[in-house]
Amino acid sequence: MMHRKFTSRLAATALGIALSGAAFAEPVEDTLTIETDDGEITLVTQAPAPAHLEGALKTIYSGWHFREDDTRGMQKDDFDNPGMVFVDRGMDSWNAAQGANGESCAGCHQGPESMAGLRAVMPRVDAKTGSLMIMEDYINGCVTERMGLEAWGVTSNKMKDMLALISMQSRGEVVNVAVDGPAAPFYEKGKEIYYTRYGQLEMSCANCHEDNYGNFIRADHLSQGQVSGFPVYRLKDAGLVSAQQRFVGCVRDTRAETFKAGSDEFKALELYVASRGNGLSVEGVGVRH
Ligand code: HEC
Ligand code: HEC
Repeated sequence: MMHRKFTSRLAATALGIALSGAAFAEPVEDTLTIETDDGEITLVTQAPAPAHLEGALKTIYSGWHFREDDTRGMQKDDFDNPGMVFVDRGMDSWNAAQGANGESCAGCHQGPESMAGLRAVMPRVDAKTGSLMIMEDYINGCVTERMGLEAWGVTSNKMKDMLALISMQSRGEVVNVAVDGPAAPFYEKGKEIYYTRYGQLEMSCANCHEDNYGNFIRADHLSQGQVSGFPVYRLKDAGLVSAQQRFVGCVRDTRAETFKAGSDEFKALELYVASRGNGLSVEGVGVRH
């Protein structure tokens, strides 16, 4: 892999990015085989880039490959993965009679296995309404319209617990987000945002996650910014982080006014970013530093 440089030296300096040869490292060679309650599962964390990324990336990597040994290790055993506590909480919420008339998710959907496969194709354009949906939209649709409750906050703990539970039902399935047909305009919009330079630092997602993955930014080994591992358990926050939240954090780091979590802009961005991971496994709940 070539050593790549930032186009803006000022931005690089401002962020304290050391761009010496020593500050580059290949993604770690490792295999993500996870000990689960019912045996082992091996995830695809590295794959040929999907056709629509031709000229941009040859190989796509899960963010897992850029983390340190102990962090990667935690994701190799569900017992050690702190995110599983939140999956359990999601399960309690799934079964709870919390609707205005005592409805539960389970009452209509049976077990959470009924959601198998969904995470792998999200975000997507809903066939009935034609609108772009992130998982949070589907959940809130049921919470408000079918359970008569106030919408859950897009980045609330309740929401993230449910994202974790539903995401786990697709663990190991290969991400296959549609980019054509009704998804095409959202894909284009997300792509435009991905390549737009924001903030005082004038940096785009691509400047960091396409041009500079492998380089170190302060102590962080820069990944390709994939969302296949989301929601992730983040050690720094001692809690779950959703993709929408991560986007807010990354844009804020460029010292820009950020779009809101759950905004049309970030929904389109999530579709685009997720599609850059077509071919990687859904990780259920990843572990990051
Ligand atoms: C100034 C550099 C920078 C920019 C610009 C930036 N990010 Fe990040 N991003 C980081 C760093 C550092 C991390 C943490 C280490 C890593 O996973 O790369 C990160 C992590 C992520 C992750 C988590 C990956 C994982 O597997 O845990 C995602 C997703 C992400 N970024 C998406 C984006 C998107 C989308 C944009 C544009 C809106 C963006 N980033 C802009 C620096 C940046
Ligand atoms: C009163 C019944 C009812 C309740 C309660 C309910 N849902 Fe739903 N849910 C539905 C129906 C009906 C659909 C639409 C199914 C379809 O279009 O095939 C749906 C769709 C969904 C979808 C999209 C599934 C897909 O494959 O497109 C998700 C995710 C979802 N619900 C999550 C939840 C969660 C989480 C809860 C509890 C907080 C919940 N639902 C509570 C009836 C319900």
